[in-house]
Amino acid sequence: MLEAKNILKTFHSEGVVTHALTGVDLTVNPGEFVSIVGRSGSGKTTFLNVLSTLLAPDSGEILYGGEDVTSFSAARLNQLRQKDFSVVFQFHYLLPYLSARENVLLPYMRGLAPVSKDAKLRADACLERVGLAGKGSKIPGHLSGGEQQRVAIARALVKESTVLFADEPTGNLDRETGESVMELLADLKNDGLSIVMVTHDDEYAARADRVIRMADGAVV
Ligand SMILES: Nc1ncnc2c1ncn2[C@@H]1O[C@H](COP(=O)(O)OP(=O)(O)OP(=O)(O)O)[C@@H](O)[C@H]1O
Ligand SMILES: [Mg+2]
Repeated sequence: MLEAKNILKTFHSEGVVTHALTGVDLTVNPGEFVSIVGRSGSGKTTFLNVLSTLLAPDSGEILYGGEDVTSFSAARLNQLRQKDFSVVFQFHYLLPYLSARENVLLPYMRGLAPVSKDAKLRADACLERVGLAGKGSKIPGHLSGGEQQRVAIARALVKESTVLFADEPTGNLDRETGESVMELLADLKNDGLSIVMVTHDDEYAARADRVIRMADGAVV
């Protein structure tokens, strides 16, 4: 359902050439939880960013629903990012001056116009789903790290995404808080969401259906 074929990506920066991805293939089946592990610099984040369409590869195909998204127009890419694909980063990137509820609704907000009552109810249902019932009006600075990460995941739920891409979602959290985020991911997988997670943690990685190991820009 999501398939990467022979992905190449080279960075040129200040005279340094880095072959970050040297021909990576991956298939993610519907509802599958795949984790990606590997040493620092092996290309994990670059690959996740290419898969989630945040970064264009130099060559190769990313097939989603049978179509190559690398050839999508900007408008179609936006559609894909606003609906089907959701991304959670190591640092959650919530907007600090918006409430948890507004952060969840960010994909739907047009400027800072007030959101509809219906949208608010949907956001609150998603916050409840990630264990944050009653915390919708708090700003991120008044939530713990794990709670902030769960707000970022709730954003994927409100969009009813089909694939969640997570780059070290527990990287910044203590063991207990990381555990709560991992349990949430497992629940969402059981509900049918496909998940691609990059992690340094072998124990967390092993909870996925499949572990992909990367080294020097390739799957090994
Ligand atoms: N925008 C960029 N410009 C130049 N080089 C880059 C850029 N992004 C990544 N690289 C290089 O590409 C290689 C792969 O980087 P990437 O961030 O994908 O590694 P990673 O496996 O995610 O590492 P980590 O575990 O430390 O997060 C590294 O050598 C990195 O320095
Ligand atoms: Mg990385």
